Formats: sequence, structure tokens, C-alpha cells
Amino acid sequence: MPQNPIPLSAFAMPRHVAIIMDGNGRWASARGLPRGEGHRRGVEALRKTVRAAGEMGISYLTIFSFSAENWSRPSSEIRDLMGLLRRFIRNDLAELHQSRVKVRVIGERDDLAPDIRQLLEEAEELTKGNDRLTLVVAFNYGARQEIARAAARIAVKINAGEIEPSAMTADLIGQNLDAPDLPDPDLIIRTSGEQRLSNFLLWQAAYSELVFVPTYWPDFDRAALEGAIAEYHRRERRFGGLIAQTGS
Ligand code: FPP
Repeated sequence: MPQNPIPLSAFAMPRHVAIIMDGNGRWASARGLPRGEGHRRGVEALRKTVRAAGEMGISYLTIFSFSAENWSRPSSEIRDLMGLLRRFIRNDLAELHQSRVKVRVIGERDDLAPDIRQLLEEAEELTKGNDRLTLVVAFNYGARQEIARAAARIAVKINAGEIEPSAMTADLIGQNLDAPDLPDPDLIIRTSGEQRLSNFLLWQAAYSELVFVPTYWPDFDRAALEGAIAEYHRRERRFGGLIAQTGS
């Protein structure tokens, strides 16, 4: 039988898609609207994207909702973003649960307002038995901070004599990240034309395909997601080795 020159993986739906939702502010400025309106429309785009991801058979969707660096924004904008998260969980949690979405949260929770921490915990608790799509909300998240948290967790175990310093491996660091059971993202999408990771999933992105799209986040929808996945399918994934052989 002739060998198929195209790797099978080229046809598979990415299992884990992560998105840097960027461009809300520019979307609003371009329309003479306040930045908050861009964030509000951003939540609508998020709803559409979660629905589309579930329908398309993606297993994990990670969204960068609030970065550890976003605290440097004006306090009114921080209030806006916190308010949107509150409303998103209060209004959408029932629908997410009904659609069998499991919510997970990564990031530093200690600096968040107690009611927000509680909402995040409630969302995780309610949906923990769901099995369709896992929605990973990166909130107050920074990748360097996450890696530092992993190092601190390991240091505690070394101090307690539970593990030897010589047991330190990349796998061990991976096992001590905020959500160690999740697979690494196959595809990371950033909207708005910026081409950076901006401290998002630095450890997990080692072999991810990066797709940058010009669309501002509020205009992102199912067609844009399908376009990014089509680009992913055009790429060869080698994981540092030779291209996967199929057929044989
Ligand atoms: C980037 O736009 C987006 C964010 C800082 C946060 C993303 C937030 C949402 C999509 C809405 C909130 C959703 C939840 C669940 C909290 P930007 O403000 O950096 O845009 P700009 O670069 O054009 O200024």
C-alpha cells in the first residue's frame, strides 16, 4: 500500500485550543466607544467561541481572561473586568453546566476579592463531573508566576524530605503546575494582530502551534475559530523529531 504523505494528525481536531483574547480596547476605540464596551462585546464573543468549540469536538479550551499584569490598568477598567467575570459566571454557569462544560481555573487566587474566589470555586465544584468540553479560565494568570508556584510546591516537598533535589525533572515541574492533568495546548490563537505570548502558558506552549489572526476579539466567532484551525491543519507537527509516518 502506498504511504500517505500527509500525517494523520493533520486531520485531527486539536484537542486543546488556547486563546489570547486581545483587541477589545482597539475594537471599541475604532467605533468611538468606551473600552468597557469592547470588553462587554468580548464576553459575547467568548460565549460564541465556547459553544463552537463544544460543537466542533474540541476537548479543552483555555482562555486568557485577566493577566497578572492587567492590575496595572486604570482601576475603573479593572472594576469593569471583575464585574464582567462575576456576571459571566452568574449568568452563564447554568448553561455551561447544562452543555456539560467543565470549568477549571488557573492563576493566583489569593489576590482576588473573596466573592470572586467563591464564584470560581462554585463554578469548578458544580461542573467537576462534566465531560464534554473543559473550559480553562486563566484569571489573574501569568506563566512565570505559575512556574514559580510550581517551584515553590516542589521546594516544600524537598524540604519535607519527600523528594530528593536530584528528582527534579521537567516532568516534575509539569506535575506541579496549576492544572497538571491538562494536556498541553496543540494550538494557541492570539487575536488582534499582536504576535507575542505575553506570559501565557510559557511552559505548556513548548510544542504548540501559534496562530495569530488580525481580528479584534469582539469580532471573533465560529468562522474565525475554524479559520485558525484550518491554518493549524496546514502545519506539520514534528515535536523535535521526524514527521509522523502513517500507513506503513
Ligand atoms: C484584551 O483586550 C482583553 C482583556 C484584557 C481581557 C479579556 C476579557 C474579555 C474577553 C472579557 C472578560 C471575560 C471574562 C470571562 C472576564 P485589550 O483591552 O488588551 O485590548 P487592546 O489591546 O485593544 O487595548
